[in-house]
Order: sequence, then structure tokens, then C-alpha cells
Amino acid sequence: MSTLVTGGAGYIGSHMVLNLAEAGEEVIVADNLTTGFAWALHPSAFFGQGDIADEAFLDRLITEHQIKSVIHFAGSIAVAESMADPLKYYLNNTANSRTLIERAVRGGVENFIFSSTAAVYGASQGDLVDENAPLNPLSPYGASKLMTEWMLRDAAAAHGLRYAALRYFNVAGADPKVRTGQSNASAMPLIKVAVQAALGLRGHIEIFGEDYPTPDGTGVRDYIHVTDLVNAHSSALTYLRDGGASFVANCGYGHGFSVNEVLCSVERVSGKKLDIRHGLRRAGDPGRLVANPARIKTLVDWQPIYDDLDTIVAHALAWEERLASTRRNILSGKY
Ligand SMILES: NC(=O)c1ccc[n+]([C@@H]2O[C@H](COP(=O)([O-])OP(=O)(O)OC[C@H]3O[C@@H](n4cnc5c(N)ncnc54)[C@H](O)[C@@H]3O)[C@@H](O)[C@H]2O)c1
Repeated sequence: MSTLVTGGAGYIGSHMVLNLAEAGEEVIVADNLTTGFAWALHPSAFFGQGDIADEAFLDRLITEHQIKSVIHFAGSIAVAESMADPLKYYLNNTANSRTLIERAVRGGVENFIFSSTAAVYGASQGDLVDENAPLNPLSPYGASKLMTEWMLRDAAAAHGLRYAALRYFNVAGADPKVRTGQSNASAMPLIKVAVQAALGLRGHIEIFGEDYPTPDGTGVRDYIHVTDLVNAHSSALTYLRDGGASFVANCGYGHGFSVNEVLCSVERVSGKKLDIRHGLRRAGDPGRLVANPARIKTLVDWQPIYDDLDTIVAHALAWEERLASTRRNILSGKY
């Protein structure tokens, strides 16, 4: 019952590998290390360094390790970059996912879990977004993910693959035991950037847009702790393995925080005053995106345990401190 985790050396993938390894599962990772780190992998995982565009690489992993389930995190993740370089996103998130799905079907894979995103919805019409909301991505990133959902839907209907497409809202925080976290220096999610500012690793933090139709004018998002998110994946995997039907589901908590509220939490948890600057809206950013998580909660056995903004911020802060002290030790020759 080996499971192939693509992108397993990345932020969310490395938490998934930890989760599976701790459950005693055999885990095979495929990652090209463009934004991931081999050191982030649990030692029990088998690491195949390679690209999911490489059919022979995928065939080898799937056959040699008798892969029955795939959890597919590998991809390109920045909305702003996708506006500037859309074809990169249609290649890595859509075309390369097609290759993976094809090799999985040919290799006899039975279960497939895909990292989709709330960006498939575009601007939210109501308070909470459920899975039947209009699909109207505002960015090539969202569109590239939506096309992969559709490929999975059609491949499942034709070939009997069972899949779960999980639409993540804003993933944040880090492993509560501080073993892994968001380590990519070019990743810019709000909570990571804000805790870096609190630690003095960057000078200031900029708010992009204060004229959204939200209570304080700043963007509102549903922040889900990465450990709760990977727990949702393991519950979804159990559900599919037990013969459950394919599904698409939101992964969020069902309540949102504005940028201002997040920055207040970072100041509260860190005890540091942030230098906050005020910028314009960014293209591709909706004002409010908050999940209705009813479907995932009723379909699979998943109950969040870290649904608390200050806890998410505290774990992100602990990970950023750890990264910074590791960097200092390397520079001072201790490692
Ligand atoms: N972080 C979020 O808030 C968020 C929200 C919604 C969806 N997602 C999705 O979750 C997934 C994981 O995101 P993350 O935040 O962990 O990003 P990440 O950049 O940390 O992880 C992606 C991993 O995939 C690897 N990778 C990329 N392209 C590859 C390829 N062609 N072949 C092999 N490996 C490749 C990278 O090296 C990296 O280790 C992505 O698909 C992303 O779109 C993330």
C-alpha cells in the first residue's frame, strides 16, 4: 500500500510525508527540488529526485514501489507570478499533472488526491463559499488547477480511478513539533512575511488594498493550519481506500480574518510592533474568500484541532525562528 507523494519536499508535502510516516505507511516522494528541500523529508521516506513531466521516472516509481495511491502536491503556487508568466502555470500545473494522471492510470493506481485551491472560485458572492459556487478563477494559477480537477473528473469516469480534489483556502502555520514548515525564501504568504517582520528578518510589511468591501477594507481569508490540512488528506485517503466515491471539497475552517486582524495576531503573539505600509490591491486577489467546510466534515472523518489564529501564528513564528537560527549557525561555522 505504498503512497506516492509528489512535491513531498515542499511546505505542505513535507507535513504530509511526516503524517504518513508516523502512521507507519510506506511513502515514496517525487520532487524536483525547485522549491522544496531534501532535508525536510522524514528519513523513512524513499526520495526520488525528478520531475513529474518525466514519464519514465514516474513509471519506475509507480512500478517498483507498487504505488496504489498518489497525493499530488507538486506544482507552481504564486498567483502574482501566474499573471506574469501564465504558460509556466499551464505547463507545470496542468500539462505536467496530465502526465502524472496518465502514468497513474496506466500503472494501476487506485486513489488520487489533488491539491486544488480556493482560487478556482474567483470573487466570492456570499459569506461562505461552498463547492457549488461559480467557478470563475481570477488568475492563470486558479485556471491551471481547475483544468486539472476536470482532467481528474474525466479520467476517473473513464478509467475507474477514485479521486479527491481538495480546494485549500490559505494554508499557514507549521508542524507543532517544529520539524518542518514553510522554508522557501521566495514564498510570500501573509503570515510568513509578517512573522519574518516581527523577527526583524525584513524591515516592514505592506498591506495590499484597503478598499475592499470588507469590515476594515483589507482582504479576508480563511487560514487553515497545515497540520489540520494534511490530517484532512489522510482521512480522505482512508475514505477512498475504503471504496468511497470521488469528491471535490473545500479545506478551510469556515471563518475568516482580515489582513489587519492577522497583523494584530502577529504583534500579540510575538510581542513586537510591526512597521506596516499601505499599498494598492494586487491583480488576481479577491476581497473575501472563506470556505464552507461542511462537505469535507461530513464526508470523511476530519475534525480540525488547530483552529485558532494565534496558535497558527505561534507555530509559524517558531518555525521561522528555527530557520533563522539554523542559518546563523551555518554562517558562523557551527554546522
Ligand atoms: N500554500 C498554500 O496556501 C496553498 C493553497 C492552495 C493550494 N496549494 C497547493 O498545494 C500544493 C503544495 O503547495 P506548497 O505551498 O507546499 O508549495 P511548495 O512550493 O512548498 O511545494 C511544491 C513542491 O513541488 C515540487 N515541484 C514543483 N514542480 C515540480 C515538478 N514539475 N516535478 C516535481 N516536483 C515539483 C517543488 O520542488 C516543491 O517541493 C501546490 O500544488 C499548491 O498549488 C497551496
